[in-house]
Amino acid sequence: MKQVFLNNGTEIPEIGFGTWQMTEGVKKTVKTALKAGYTHIDTADIYGNEAQIGEAIEESGIDRKTLYLTTKIWNSNRSAAGVQQSVEQSLKKLRTDYIDLLLIHWPANEKQFTNWKDINAETWKAMEKLTKCGTVRSIGVSNFLVPHLTALLETAEVVPAVDQIEFHPGYTQSETVEFCREEGIVIEAWSPIGSGRLLKDPELKAMADRYGVSPAILCIQFCLQAGAVVLAKSENPEHIKNNLHFERFHISHSDMKALKNLKESGFSGMHPAKVDF
Ligand SMILES: NC(=O)c1ccc[n+]([C@@H]2O[C@H](COP(=O)([O-])OP(=O)(O)OC[C@H]3O[C@@H](n4cnc5c(N)ncnc54)[C@H](OP(=O)(O)O)[C@@H]3O)[C@@H](O)[C@H]2O)c1
Repeated sequence: MKQVFLNNGTEIPEIGFGTWQMTEGVKKTVKTALKAGYTHIDTADIYGNEAQIGEAIEESGIDRKTLYLTTKIWNSNRSAAGVQQSVEQSLKKLRTDYIDLLLIHWPANEKQFTNWKDINAETWKAMEKLTKCGTVRSIGVSNFLVPHLTALLETAEVVPAVDQIEFHPGYTQSETVEFCREEGIVIEAWSPIGSGRLLKDPELKAMADRYGVSPAILCIQFCLQAGAVVLAKSENPEHIKNNLHFERFHISHSDMKALKNLKESGFSGMHPAKVDF
């Protein structure tokens, strides 16, 4: 699988397997994904499925060292003690002694906290510490917009390796993407298919037909071609396989532009500066 270099010299597989909202049957689905050849799995404390993912990996017999595991610190653990406790739990559940990539799941935001900068800075400091003892190989953020990143960089010793943001046709967060490019932060695309909402978009469907691919594959190729690491989710064995092994193709410049400007039919409705969770 093609790898993408991160700013700390490590590599991340360009396609990861998403596991959000996957609890029932997640063990079986992750085993299917591992068998299909995925080496990169994206989970989070809040998904409530780390233990089943740990079991799936162990039962698959695949060497842990060949896998890339991402998990995330939930909002209730945005503190030094919270990070420590959350990572200890994640390690236990995932049945591993290190995490490849640890993310702050959502920034403490300006809507909820007057001291949001301090909360994010303290959380980040604790994560930096974990990279020094090898428990965590790389650290990054998720759902950070330019103001959150700018504030974090004022005190950070380590520049985030990635920013995992909502990114798909019709919702591409150009300002954040441009800022990350300048700072050497890799973009990871969450909900590349808009959690399935984009499959119904007629314009996208027509373009997919023109390229002779499915709308889902057009979304994944769009994200890859835009330079993002892609996290796609599926519970269907055929889709799981196709999303990883489809023949790469080239989307023309004008079609990339049209996909970028597609109407926001895939948007989740979750804006990092406005959410109250
Ligand atoms: N950091 C964050 O805050 C955050 C937020 C949201 C998501 N994420 C991450 O991003 C991952 C992906 O996002 P997502 O879970 O919202 O879903 P998604 O990957 O955008 O879309 C999943 C939907 O697309 C369908 N699908 C997938 N491949 C398909 C194919 N080849 N053909 C037809 N349909 C297909 C799936 O149905 P089938 O099961 O039928 O294939 C499912 O309904 C998450 O699982 C999670 O790991 C992170």
